[in-house]
Amino acid sequence: MSQNAQADKKFRLADDGGQLIGELPVFKGTLGFEVVDVRQLLDKSGYCTFDPSFGSTASCRSTITFIDGDKGILLHRGYPIDQLAEKATYLEVAFLLLFGELPSASELAQFTKDITYHTMVHEQLTRFYAGFPREAHPMAILSAVVSALSAFYPDSTDIFDPQQRLISIHRLIAKMPTIAAMAYKNSVGQPFIYPQNHLDYSANFLNMMFAVPPEPYKVNPVFARAINALLIVQADHEQNASTSTVRMVGSTRANPFASVSAGIAALWGPLHGGANEAVLDMLEQIGDKKNIPDFIKRAKDKNDSFRLMGFGHRVYKSYDPRARVMQKICEEVLHEVGADNDPLLKLARELERVALADEYFVDRKLYPNVDFYSGIVQRAIGIPVKMFTALFAIARTAGWLAQWKEMIEDPDQRIARPRQLYCGEDTREYVPLDKRRSMTDTSATVHKPMPSEPAIVGG
Ligand code: CMC
Repeated sequence: MSQNAQADKKFRLADDGGQLIGELPVFKGTLGFEVVDVRQLLDKSGYCTFDPSFGSTASCRSTITFIDGDKGILLHRGYPIDQLAEKATYLEVAFLLLFGELPSASELAQFTKDITYHTMVHEQLTRFYAGFPREAHPMAILSAVVSALSAFYPDSTDIFDPQQRLISIHRLIAKMPTIAAMAYKNSVGQPFIYPQNHLDYSANFLNMMFAVPPEPYKVNPVFARAINALLIVQADHEQNASTSTVRMVGSTRANPFASVSAGIAALWGPLHGGANEAVLDMLEQIGDKKNIPDFIKRAKDKNDSFRLMGFGHRVYKSYDPRARVMQKICEEVLHEVGADNDPLLKLARELERVALADEYFVDRKLYPNVDFYSGIVQRAIGIPVKMFTALFAIARTAGWLAQWKEMIEDPDQRIARPRQLYCGEDTREYVPLDKRRSMTDTSATVHKPMPSEPAIVGG
Protein backbone atom coordinates (compact mmCIF):
# COMPACT_ATOMS: atom_id res chain seq x y z
CA MET A 1 0.00 0.00 0.00
CA SER A 2 2.57 2.61 1.01
CA GLN A 3 6.21 2.51 1.94
CA ASN A 4 5.14 2.48 5.61
CA ALA A 5 2.16 0.16 5.46
CA GLN A 6 2.50 -3.62 5.71
CA ALA A 7 -0.39 -6.01 5.07
CA ASP A 8 0.58 -8.66 7.62
CA LYS A 9 -2.96 -9.41 8.82
CA LYS A 10 -6.18 -10.48 7.14
CA PHE A 11 -9.77 -9.44 7.82
CA ARG A 12 -12.00 -12.48 7.37
CA LEU A 13 -15.37 -12.31 5.59
CA ALA A 14 -17.93 -14.94 6.55
CA ASP A 15 -21.44 -15.70 5.28
CA ASP A 16 -24.55 -15.99 7.52
CA GLY A 17 -23.57 -19.54 8.43
CA GLY A 18 -20.08 -18.47 9.51
CA GLN A 19 -18.50 -20.00 6.37
CA LEU A 20 -15.33 -18.16 5.29
CA ILE A 21 -16.01 -16.48 1.93
CA GLY A 22 -12.93 -14.32 1.60
CA GLU A 23 -10.16 -12.38 3.23
CA LEU A 24 -9.22 -8.72 2.97
CA PRO A 25 -5.73 -7.31 3.66
CA VAL A 26 -5.27 -5.27 6.87
CA PHE A 27 -2.70 -2.48 6.78
CA LYS A 28 -0.93 -0.75 9.65
CA GLY A 29 0.54 2.69 8.97
CA THR A 30 3.30 4.33 11.01
CA LEU A 31 0.81 5.53 13.63
CA GLY A 32 -2.93 5.21 14.14
CA PHE A 33 -5.59 2.64 13.30
CA GLU A 34 -5.20 -0.53 11.35
CA VAL A 35 -7.23 -0.28 8.14
CA VAL A 36 -9.08 -2.99 6.26
CA ASP A 37 -8.45 -2.66 2.53
CA VAL A 38 -11.99 -2.97 1.12
CA ARG A 39 -11.08 -2.19 -2.48
CA GLN A 40 -11.74 -5.80 -3.51
CA LEU A 41 -14.79 -6.22 -1.25
CA LEU A 42 -17.43 -5.74 -3.95
CA ASP A 43 -15.70 -8.09 -6.38
CA LYS A 44 -14.99 -10.72 -3.73
CA SER A 45 -18.30 -10.69 -1.86
CA GLY A 46 -20.89 -8.64 -3.76
CA TYR A 47 -21.14 -6.33 -0.73
CA CYS A 48 -20.36 -2.60 -0.52
CA THR A 49 -19.50 -0.58 2.61
CA PHE A 50 -21.92 2.11 3.90
CA ASP A 51 -20.24 5.09 5.61
CA PRO A 52 -21.93 8.31 4.42
CA SER A 53 -19.95 10.78 6.52
CA PHE A 54 -16.72 8.74 6.25
CA GLY A 55 -16.45 8.27 10.03
CA SER A 56 -14.88 4.81 9.55
CA THR A 57 -13.24 5.33 6.18
CA ALA A 58 -9.60 6.05 5.36
CA SER A 59 -10.09 7.73 1.98
CA CYS A 60 -6.40 7.76 1.03
CA ARG A 61 -2.93 6.98 2.27
CA SER A 62 -0.96 10.00 3.40
CA THR A 63 2.38 10.86 4.98
CA ILE A 64 1.57 14.49 5.76
CA THR A 65 -0.45 14.89 8.96
CA PHE A 66 -1.31 12.62 11.87
CA ILE A 67 -4.00 13.24 14.49
CA ASP A 68 -4.58 11.20 17.64
CA GLY A 69 -7.98 12.50 18.63
CA ASP A 70 -8.08 10.68 21.98
CA LYS A 71 -4.73 12.01 23.13
CA GLY A 72 -5.11 15.47 21.53
CA ILE A 73 -2.03 15.09 19.30
CA LEU A 74 -1.48 16.79 15.94
CA LEU A 75 1.73 16.12 14.00
CA HIS A 76 2.87 17.52 10.65
CA ARG A 77 5.42 15.18 9.08
CA GLY A 78 6.05 14.03 12.66
CA TYR A 79 6.54 17.47 14.25
CA PRO A 80 4.08 18.44 17.07
CA ILE A 81 1.89 21.43 16.25
CA ASP A 82 2.81 23.38 19.41
CA GLN A 83 6.54 23.26 18.52
CA LEU A 84 5.84 24.40 14.97
CA ALA A 85 3.53 27.23 16.10
CA GLU A 86 6.07 28.46 18.62
CA LYS A 87 9.28 28.11 16.61
CA ALA A 88 8.56 28.08 12.87
CA THR A 89 7.28 30.52 10.29
CA TYR A 90 4.25 29.74 8.15
CA LEU A 91 6.41 29.38 5.03
CA GLU A 92 8.66 26.86 6.81
CA VAL A 93 5.56 24.84 7.71
CA ALA A 94 4.21 25.15 4.16
CA PHE A 95 7.54 23.80 2.85
CA LEU A 96 7.42 20.98 5.42
CA LEU A 97 3.88 20.00 4.41
CA LEU A 98 4.68 20.13 0.72
CA PHE A 99 8.08 18.48 0.63
CA GLY A 100 8.24 16.35 3.80
CA GLU A 101 11.18 17.98 5.64
CA LEU A 102 11.86 21.30 7.32
CA PRO A 103 13.80 23.46 4.84
CA SER A 104 17.51 24.17 5.23
CA ALA A 105 18.45 27.89 5.36
CA SER A 106 19.14 27.99 1.62
CA GLU A 107 15.98 26.02 0.76
CA LEU A 108 13.92 28.41 2.87
CA ALA A 109 15.52 31.44 1.22
CA GLN A 110 14.75 29.99 -2.23
CA PHE A 111 11.16 29.04 -1.27
CA THR A 112 10.54 32.50 0.21
CA LYS A 113 11.89 34.06 -3.01
CA ASP A 114 9.65 31.80 -5.13
CA ILE A 115 6.60 32.77 -3.10
CA THR A 116 7.26 36.51 -2.93
CA TYR A 117 7.91 36.57 -6.70
CA HIS A 118 4.23 35.67 -7.19
CA THR A 119 2.47 37.84 -4.57
CA MET A 120 0.91 40.28 -7.06
CA VAL A 121 -2.21 39.35 -9.00
CA HIS A 122 -2.75 40.06 -12.70
CA GLU A 123 -3.89 43.69 -12.87
CA GLN A 124 -6.95 42.74 -14.94
CA LEU A 125 -8.06 40.48 -12.11
CA THR A 126 -8.43 43.51 -9.82
CA ARG A 127 -11.45 44.56 -11.93
CA PHE A 128 -13.39 41.51 -10.75
CA TYR A 129 -13.81 43.17 -7.40
CA ALA A 130 -15.81 46.07 -8.82
CA GLY A 131 -18.42 43.56 -9.95
CA PHE A 132 -19.10 42.31 -6.42
CA PRO A 133 -21.49 44.11 -4.08
CA ARG A 134 -19.64 45.92 -1.26
CA GLU A 135 -21.28 43.69 1.32
CA ALA A 136 -20.29 40.44 -0.47
CA HIS A 137 -18.90 37.82 1.86
CA PRO A 138 -15.09 37.57 1.39
CA MET A 139 -15.38 33.78 1.01
CA ALA A 140 -17.66 34.23 -2.04
CA ILE A 141 -15.05 36.55 -3.57
CA LEU A 142 -12.15 34.30 -2.60
CA SER A 143 -13.62 31.21 -4.15
CA ALA A 144 -14.59 33.05 -7.36
CA VAL A 145 -11.25 34.85 -7.78
CA VAL A 146 -9.19 31.72 -7.02
CA SER A 147 -11.19 29.79 -9.60
CA ALA A 148 -10.56 32.63 -12.08
CA LEU A 149 -6.78 32.28 -11.58
CA SER A 150 -6.85 29.30 -13.95
CA ALA A 151 -7.99 31.68 -16.70
CA PHE A 152 -5.10 34.05 -15.99
CA TYR A 153 -2.39 31.44 -15.50
CA PRO A 154 -3.14 28.61 -17.99
CA ASP A 155 0.63 28.05 -18.23
CA SER A 156 0.55 26.29 -14.84
CA THR A 157 -2.55 24.10 -15.21
CA ASP A 158 -0.96 20.96 -16.67
CA ILE A 159 -1.11 18.75 -13.60
CA PHE A 160 1.20 16.12 -15.16
CA ASP A 161 4.08 18.56 -15.46
CA PRO A 162 5.92 18.70 -12.08
CA GLN A 163 7.29 22.16 -12.86
CA GLN A 164 3.82 23.55 -13.63
CA ARG A 165 2.48 21.91 -10.46
CA LEU A 166 5.18 23.67 -8.46
CA ILE A 167 4.50 27.05 -10.07
CA SER A 168 0.77 26.79 -9.41
CA ILE A 169 1.56 25.88 -5.77
CA HIS A 170 3.81 28.96 -5.46
CA ARG A 171 1.18 31.13 -7.12
CA LEU A 172 -1.66 29.99 -4.87
CA ILE A 173 0.28 30.31 -1.60
CA ALA A 174 1.60 33.71 -2.71
CA LYS A 175 -1.64 35.21 -3.99
CA MET A 176 -4.13 34.05 -1.36
CA PRO A 177 -3.30 36.83 1.16
CA THR A 178 -3.38 39.42 -1.65
CA ILE A 179 -6.78 38.20 -2.92
CA ALA A 180 -8.24 38.05 0.61
CA ALA A 181 -6.94 41.50 1.64
CA MET A 182 -8.32 42.96 -1.60
CA ALA A 183 -11.76 41.52 -0.74
CA TYR A 184 -11.59 43.39 2.57
CA LYS A 185 -10.40 46.65 1.00
CA ASN A 186 -13.23 46.41 -1.52
CA SER A 187 -15.77 45.98 1.27
CA VAL A 188 -14.64 49.16 3.05
CA GLY A 189 -14.13 51.20 -0.11
CA GLN A 190 -10.38 51.68 0.37
CA PRO A 191 -7.76 51.37 -2.39
CA PHE A 192 -6.00 48.05 -2.75
CA ILE A 193 -2.59 47.92 -1.11
CA TYR A 194 -0.01 46.07 -3.19
CA PRO A 195 2.13 43.38 -1.56
CA GLN A 196 5.43 44.44 -0.03
CA ASN A 197 7.98 41.70 -0.58
CA HIS A 198 10.39 42.94 2.09
CA LEU A 199 7.77 41.99 4.70
CA ASP A 200 7.33 38.42 5.86
CA TYR A 201 4.18 36.48 4.92
CA SER A 202 2.09 37.46 7.97
CA ALA A 203 3.28 41.08 8.16
CA ASN A 204 2.62 41.51 4.43
CA PHE A 205 -0.97 40.32 4.92
CA LEU A 206 -1.51 42.76 7.82
CA ASN A 207 -0.02 45.58 5.75
CA MET A 208 -2.32 44.83 2.79
CA MET A 209 -5.29 44.75 5.20
CA PHE A 210 -4.63 47.86 7.26
CA ALA A 211 -2.26 50.24 5.44
CA VAL A 212 -3.75 53.22 3.59
CA PRO A 213 -1.84 55.30 1.02
CA PRO A 214 -1.81 58.65 2.85
CA GLU A 215 -0.24 57.40 6.09
CA PRO A 216 2.71 55.25 7.08
CA TYR A 217 1.68 51.93 8.62
CA LYS A 218 3.94 49.88 10.85
CA VAL A 219 3.02 46.26 11.43
CA ASN A 220 2.80 45.39 15.12
CA PRO A 221 5.23 42.45 15.63
CA VAL A 222 2.95 40.87 18.29
CA PHE A 223 0.10 40.84 15.76
CA ALA A 224 2.36 39.42 13.03
CA ARG A 225 3.51 36.68 15.42
CA ALA A 226 -0.12 35.90 16.28
CA ILE A 227 -1.11 35.70 12.60
CA ASN A 228 1.90 33.45 11.95
CA ALA A 229 0.76 31.08 14.74
CA LEU A 230 -2.84 31.21 13.53
CA LEU A 231 -1.75 30.32 9.99
CA ILE A 232 0.37 27.43 11.28
CA VAL A 233 -2.33 25.87 13.47
CA GLN A 234 -4.78 25.99 10.59
CA ALA A 235 -2.34 24.93 7.83
CA ASP A 236 -3.40 21.30 7.56
CA HIS A 237 -5.65 18.83 9.33
CA GLU A 238 -5.52 15.56 7.38
CA GLN A 239 -8.68 14.48 5.53
CA ASN A 240 -11.18 17.13 6.76
CA ALA A 241 -14.16 18.22 4.65
CA SER A 242 -12.40 20.90 2.60
CA THR A 243 -9.24 18.84 2.06
CA SER A 244 -11.31 15.85 0.99
CA THR A 245 -13.11 18.22 -1.40
CA VAL A 246 -9.80 19.38 -2.89
CA ARG A 247 -8.71 15.75 -3.31
CA MET A 248 -12.09 14.77 -4.78
CA VAL A 249 -12.11 17.61 -7.33
CA GLY A 250 -8.38 17.12 -8.04
CA SER A 251 -8.95 13.40 -8.66
CA THR A 252 -10.89 14.36 -11.81
CA ARG A 253 -7.64 16.00 -13.02
CA ALA A 254 -9.17 19.45 -12.64
CA ASN A 255 -6.45 22.08 -12.32
CA PRO A 256 -5.22 23.14 -8.84
CA PHE A 257 -6.91 26.56 -8.97
CA ALA A 258 -10.31 24.90 -9.54
CA SER A 259 -9.60 22.30 -6.85
CA VAL A 260 -8.59 24.89 -4.25
CA SER A 261 -11.57 27.05 -5.15
CA ALA A 262 -13.83 24.07 -4.33
CA GLY A 263 -11.96 23.65 -1.03
CA ILE A 264 -12.67 27.29 -0.17
CA ALA A 265 -16.39 26.70 -0.74
CA ALA A 266 -16.33 23.66 1.56
CA LEU A 267 -14.39 25.54 4.25
CA TRP A 268 -17.02 28.28 4.30
CA GLY A 269 -19.62 26.10 6.05
CA PRO A 270 -20.37 26.98 9.72
CA LEU A 271 -19.56 23.43 10.86
CA HIS A 272 -16.07 23.69 9.33
CA GLY A 273 -14.02 26.87 8.84
CA GLY A 274 -17.03 29.13 9.29
CA ALA A 275 -17.16 28.17 12.97
CA ASN A 276 -14.69 30.88 14.12
CA GLU A 277 -17.09 33.51 12.79
CA ALA A 278 -19.98 31.69 14.47
CA VAL A 279 -18.13 31.64 17.83
CA LEU A 280 -17.97 35.41 17.98
CA ASP A 281 -21.61 35.75 16.91
CA MET A 282 -22.51 33.29 19.66
CA LEU A 283 -20.48 35.09 22.36
CA GLU A 284 -22.10 38.37 21.37
CA GLN A 285 -25.50 36.71 21.50
CA ILE A 286 -24.80 35.34 24.98
CA GLY A 287 -23.71 38.82 26.00
CA ASP A 288 -23.34 38.29 29.73
CA LYS A 289 -22.21 35.42 31.93
CA LYS A 290 -25.60 35.34 33.62
CA ASN A 291 -27.03 34.06 30.29
CA ILE A 292 -24.58 31.14 29.98
CA PRO A 293 -26.83 28.54 31.70
CA ASP A 294 -29.65 29.30 29.24
CA PHE A 295 -27.37 28.81 26.23
CA ILE A 296 -25.86 25.61 27.71
CA LYS A 297 -29.42 24.35 28.16
CA ARG A 298 -30.24 25.19 24.54
CA ALA A 299 -27.06 23.44 23.30
CA LYS A 300 -28.20 20.27 25.08
CA ASP A 301 -31.77 20.43 23.81
CA LYS A 302 -32.25 18.07 20.84
CA ASN A 303 -35.25 20.13 19.67
CA ASP A 304 -33.13 23.27 19.45
CA SER A 305 -30.69 23.60 16.53
CA PHE A 306 -28.32 25.76 18.65
CA ARG A 307 -24.89 24.22 19.29
CA LEU A 308 -21.98 25.59 21.26
CA MET A 309 -19.87 26.86 18.38
CA GLY A 310 -16.14 26.22 18.82
CA PHE A 311 -16.92 23.05 20.79
CA GLY A 312 -16.62 19.46 19.66
CA HIS A 313 -14.78 17.79 16.84
CA ARG A 314 -15.24 14.70 14.71
CA VAL A 315 -11.74 13.46 15.52
CA TYR A 316 -10.63 15.13 18.79
CA LYS A 317 -12.21 13.51 21.81
CA SER A 318 -9.80 15.43 24.03
CA TYR A 319 -8.60 19.06 24.11
CA ASP A 320 -7.81 20.25 20.56
CA PRO A 321 -4.01 20.94 20.66
CA ARG A 322 -4.55 23.88 18.29
CA ALA A 323 -6.94 25.48 20.81
CA ARG A 324 -4.16 25.37 23.46
CA VAL A 325 -1.80 27.26 21.13
CA MET A 326 -4.49 29.83 20.32
CA GLN A 327 -5.42 30.31 23.98
CA LYS A 328 -1.81 31.37 24.71
CA ILE A 329 -1.63 33.62 21.65
CA CYS A 330 -4.98 35.13 22.65
CA GLU A 331 -3.55 36.19 26.00
CA GLU A 332 -0.46 37.75 24.37
CA VAL A 333 -2.53 39.72 21.87
CA LEU A 334 -5.07 40.94 24.43
CA HIS A 335 -2.21 42.03 26.70
CA GLU A 336 -0.66 43.93 23.78
CA VAL A 337 -3.89 45.81 23.03
CA GLY A 338 -4.42 46.48 26.75
CA ALA A 339 -7.56 44.32 26.89
CA ASP A 340 -6.49 41.68 29.42
CA ASN A 341 -9.95 42.12 30.85
CA ASP A 342 -11.72 41.94 27.51
CA PRO A 343 -15.35 41.09 28.36
CA LEU A 344 -15.65 38.67 25.45
CA LEU A 345 -12.55 36.74 26.54
CA LYS A 346 -13.88 36.61 30.11
CA LEU A 347 -17.18 35.32 28.77
CA ALA A 348 -15.38 32.73 26.60
CA ARG A 349 -13.37 31.48 29.59
CA GLU A 350 -16.48 31.24 31.75
CA LEU A 351 -18.38 29.42 29.00
CA GLU A 352 -15.49 26.98 28.64
CA ARG A 353 -15.40 26.42 32.43
CA VAL A 354 -19.14 25.79 32.67
CA ALA A 355 -19.26 23.50 29.61
CA LEU A 356 -16.25 21.44 30.72
CA ALA A 357 -17.93 20.82 34.08
CA ASP A 358 -21.25 19.81 32.50
CA GLU A 359 -22.08 16.10 32.28
CA TYR A 360 -23.48 16.46 28.73
CA PHE A 361 -20.19 17.84 27.36
CA VAL A 362 -18.03 15.54 29.51
CA ASP A 363 -19.92 12.40 28.41
CA ARG A 364 -19.69 13.35 24.72
CA LYS A 365 -16.05 14.45 25.04
CA LEU A 366 -16.84 17.91 23.69
CA TYR A 367 -13.84 20.23 24.22
CA PRO A 368 -13.02 23.66 22.78
CA ASN A 369 -11.63 23.42 19.25
CA VAL A 370 -9.26 25.75 17.37
CA ASP A 371 -12.05 28.15 16.49
CA PHE A 372 -12.95 28.90 20.07
CA TYR A 373 -10.02 31.27 20.68
CA SER A 374 -8.94 32.16 17.13
CA GLY A 375 -11.90 34.50 16.63
CA ILE A 376 -11.03 36.49 19.77
CA VAL A 377 -7.42 36.83 18.60
CA GLN A 378 -8.48 38.12 15.19
CA ARG A 379 -11.02 40.51 16.65
CA ALA A 380 -8.36 42.00 18.96
CA ILE A 381 -6.05 42.53 15.96
CA GLY A 382 -8.87 44.40 14.19
CA ILE A 383 -9.72 41.77 11.59
CA PRO A 384 -13.43 41.99 10.84
CA VAL A 385 -15.52 38.90 11.68
CA LYS A 386 -16.40 38.32 8.01
CA MET A 387 -12.70 37.88 7.22
CA PHE A 388 -12.06 35.13 9.80
CA THR A 389 -12.79 32.24 7.47
CA ALA A 390 -10.83 33.94 4.68
CA LEU A 391 -7.78 33.88 6.96
CA PHE A 392 -8.42 30.19 7.62
CA ALA A 393 -8.50 29.67 3.83
CA ILE A 394 -5.12 31.43 3.44
CA ALA A 395 -3.67 29.10 6.09
CA ARG A 396 -5.24 25.90 4.74
CA THR A 397 -3.98 26.57 1.19
CA ALA A 398 -0.60 25.01 2.09
CA GLY A 399 -2.34 21.88 3.43
CA TRP A 400 -4.75 21.63 0.49
CA LEU A 401 -1.86 21.86 -1.96
CA ALA A 402 0.36 19.41 -0.08
CA GLN A 403 -2.51 16.90 -0.07
CA TRP A 404 -3.33 17.61 -3.73
CA LYS A 405 0.35 17.17 -4.72
CA GLU A 406 0.57 13.93 -2.75
CA MET A 407 -2.54 12.63 -4.51
CA ILE A 408 -1.35 13.55 -8.01
CA GLU A 409 2.04 11.93 -7.34
CA ASP A 410 0.43 8.71 -6.04
CA PRO A 411 0.75 6.07 -8.80
CA ASP A 412 -2.42 4.31 -7.52
CA GLN A 413 -4.53 7.48 -7.84
CA ARG A 414 -7.85 7.09 -9.66
CA ILE A 415 -10.88 9.35 -9.92
CA ALA A 416 -12.77 9.38 -6.59
CA ARG A 417 -16.15 7.80 -7.23
CA PRO A 418 -18.09 6.53 -4.19
CA ARG A 419 -20.96 4.05 -4.49
CA GLN A 420 -24.32 4.41 -2.73
CA LEU A 421 -27.09 2.61 -0.91
CA TYR A 422 -29.97 3.18 -3.33
CA CYS A 423 -33.33 3.57 -1.54
CA GLY A 424 -35.44 4.96 -4.40
CA GLU A 425 -38.12 3.40 -6.59
CA ASP A 426 -37.64 0.05 -8.26
CA THR A 427 -37.80 0.01 -12.09
CA ARG A 428 -41.18 1.35 -13.35
CA GLU A 429 -42.81 2.29 -16.64
CA TYR A 430 -42.85 5.86 -17.94
CA VAL A 431 -46.23 7.55 -17.18
CA PRO A 432 -47.69 9.84 -19.91
CA LEU A 433 -48.30 13.45 -18.79
CA ASP A 434 -52.14 13.19 -18.85
CA LYS A 435 -52.00 10.15 -16.53
CA ARG A 436 -49.74 11.65 -13.82
CA ARG A 437 -50.93 12.85 -10.46
CA SER A 438 -49.50 15.86 -8.63
CA MET A 439 -46.81 15.28 -5.96
CA THR A 440 -49.09 17.11 -3.51
CA ASP A 441 -51.91 14.66 -4.16
CA THR A 442 -51.73 12.44 -1.10
CA SER A 443 -53.08 9.48 -3.01
CA ALA A 444 -50.15 9.73 -5.47
CA THR A 445 -47.12 7.51 -4.99
CA VAL A 446 -44.19 9.55 -3.78
CA HIS A 447 -40.72 8.23 -3.20
CA LYS A 448 -39.79 7.33 0.37
CA PRO A 449 -36.37 8.67 1.28
CA MET A 450 -34.21 7.03 3.92
CA PRO A 451 -34.29 8.78 7.30
CA SER A 452 -31.55 11.37 6.74
CA GLU A 453 -28.40 11.69 8.78
CA PRO A 454 -26.23 14.82 8.85
CA ALA A 455 -23.34 14.01 6.51
CA ILE A 456 -20.66 16.13 8.12
CA VAL A 457 -16.93 15.73 8.17
CA GLY A 458 -15.68 18.08 10.91
CA GLY A 459 -12.33 19.78 10.39
N1 CMC B 1 -22.79 21.69 21.04
C1 CMC B 1 -23.70 20.83 21.56
N2 CMC B 1 -23.73 19.51 21.30
C2 CMC B 1 -22.81 19.03 20.48
C3 CMC B 1 -21.82 19.85 19.89
C4 CMC B 1 -21.83 21.23 20.20
N3 CMC B 1 -20.90 22.06 19.68
N4 CMC B 1 -21.02 19.11 19.10
C5 CMC B 1 -21.48 17.86 19.17
N5 CMC B 1 -22.56 17.81 20.01
C6 CMC B 1 -23.31 16.60 20.43
C7 CMC B 1 -24.24 16.11 19.33
O1 CMC B 1 -25.51 16.68 19.45
C8 CMC B 1 -24.24 14.62 19.59
O2 CMC B 1 -25.05 14.38 20.69
P1 CMC B 1 -25.90 12.98 20.79
O3 CMC B 1 -24.87 11.91 20.82
O4 CMC B 1 -26.68 13.11 22.05
O5 CMC B 1 -26.77 12.94 19.57
C9 CMC B 1 -22.80 14.33 20.01
O6 CMC B 1 -22.33 15.56 20.61
C10 CMC B 1 -21.88 13.93 18.87
O7 CMC B 1 -21.95 14.96 17.90
P2 CMC B 1 -21.95 14.74 16.33
O8 CMC B 1 -22.74 15.83 15.68
O9 CMC B 1 -22.31 13.33 16.02
O10 CMC B 1 -20.43 14.95 16.05
P3 CMC B 1 -19.79 15.17 14.63
O11 CMC B 1 -18.45 14.51 14.69
O12 CMC B 1 -20.71 14.77 13.55
O13 CMC B 1 -19.63 16.76 14.54
C11 CMC B 1 -18.75 18.93 14.72
C12 CMC B 1 -18.43 17.42 14.77
C13 CMC B 1 -17.44 19.71 14.77
C14 CMC B 1 -19.44 19.26 13.39
C15 CMC B 1 -19.67 19.29 15.93
O14 CMC B 1 -19.01 19.01 17.14
C16 CMC B 1 -20.14 20.73 15.89
O15 CMC B 1 -21.15 21.03 15.23
N6 CMC B 1 -19.42 21.68 16.58
C17 CMC B 1 -19.74 23.08 16.49
C18 CMC B 1 -19.15 23.65 15.20
C19 CMC B 1 -17.66 23.83 15.30
O16 CMC B 1 -17.13 24.33 16.29
N7 CMC B 1 -16.96 23.43 14.22
C20 CMC B 1 -15.52 23.62 14.11
C21 CMC B 1 -14.79 22.32 13.96
S1 CMC B 1 -13.02 22.53 14.19
C22 CMC B 1 -12.55 23.59 12.94
C23 CMC B 1 -12.26 22.94 11.67
O17 CMC B 1 -11.12 22.44 11.53
O18 CMC B 1 -13.14 22.91 10.79
